[in-house]
Amino acid sequence: MNDHLTAADLRALGSLKWTYFDEDVLAAWVAEMDFGLAPSVTRALHDAVDRGDTAYFSLISDRAAAEAAVAFWADHLGWKVSADRVFSVPDVVEGIRRAIVHLTAPGSAVAMHTPVYYPFFSMVERAGRSLVEVPSGRDADGIYRIDVDAVDRAFGEGAGSLVLCNPWNPTGRSLSTSELEELADVAASHGGRIISDEVHAALTYQGSEHFAAASLDPETVVTVTSASKAWNLPGLKGAQVILTNDDDITIWSDYFTLDKVAVGTFGLIANAAAYGEGEAFLSEVMERLEANRKLLGDLITTHMPDVGYTPPDATYLAWLDFRPYGLESPAEFLLDHARVALTEGAQFGPGGEGHARLNFATSPAILTEIVERIGAVL
Ligand SMILES: Cc1ncc(COP(=O)(O)O)c(C=O)c1O
Repeated sequence: MNDHLTAADLRALGSLKWTYFDEDVLAAWVAEMDFGLAPSVTRALHDAVDRGDTAYFSLISDRAAAEAAVAFWADHLGWKVSADRVFSVPDVVEGIRRAIVHLTAPGSAVAMHTPVYYPFFSMVERAGRSLVEVPSGRDADGIYRIDVDAVDRAFGEGAGSLVLCNPWNPTGRSLSTSELEELADVAASHGGRIISDEVHAALTYQGSEHFAAASLDPETVVTVTSASKAWNLPGLKGAQVILTNDDDITIWSDYFTLDKVAVGTFGLIANAAAYGEGEAFLSEVMERLEANRKLLGDLITTHMPDVGYTPPDATYLAWLDFRPYGLESPAEFLLDHARVALTEGAQFGPGGEGHARLNFATSPAILTEIVERIGAVL
């Protein structure tokens, strides 16, 4: 793993994260990591290019990705599911959109616990559904809690599903089994569904635990995930929808015939190589992220002590509350004044105002400079 790339190196590599803003801007916005590729993924992609495997994906690649994925989830999450229940989709957001369109009550609204990963909002529009925002509260310790009563009301008023983000982007929380069970019970009591985005699950820190919602209620929950976050493959287009409800499998298999799946051949190959042989790389990534999580805490104490921050249970995303500094749109202010790019909290919906999300999956040197630059302008 290469965790010492400079900003110039990273710009030369050509990611969205590092090429979107001007050259003097340090990037900590979109959820991409700056650590290069797992050797197993590099090898698998090189082999595919050498073979000329650039046609539509094969059922062999599809099955290999599904089998590698279920083995990984069994080992890492203790979630045992058959590869026959894994269906490939191009990416996580599209997988959720398809689940909403095909597996929830026709025309039903979609509930979301805000603040939450904001591309969900436009995805609901693309699904032709309306959105019900359910703002979350914080408990006495400042920990975000989904408002289960409000979710219950949303289902009661006609929502057909809740899109659950666990681990929770942007707050970094991993939900407990009791929280997951409560939400699934509420959905089930209204005949509704939980569509659970678990794309950050492999990035759970020691001391926290990820529970697959479908392991608690396989009938109510539809799971969507990918190796794309933990191994940095989002440009390759390969993700998984896991259908633990038998009726869903019938609907899905009738509709998503091979000509409609639109999955990337390289996406499947990379997912198989990541889940199947990417363990060593993931361990190195988690070591770096754990060190960065600690470094960020120290840097905050030194350079922006009034910022509200709870270290995440999972993800490489830090959710920072800049309201003590009187900033309403902190990301906009910091881009203008500190030349660092964070993601504006207000985009994540109600509860995001005055916050910004900082991506700390970068070198310690870049992370340090980012926080120093912020501290200098607060
Ligand atoms: C919670 C969550 N879901 C989905 C995605 C996007 O995944 P994809 O590019 O596979 O749609 C992200 C990306 O950051 C994310 O954080």
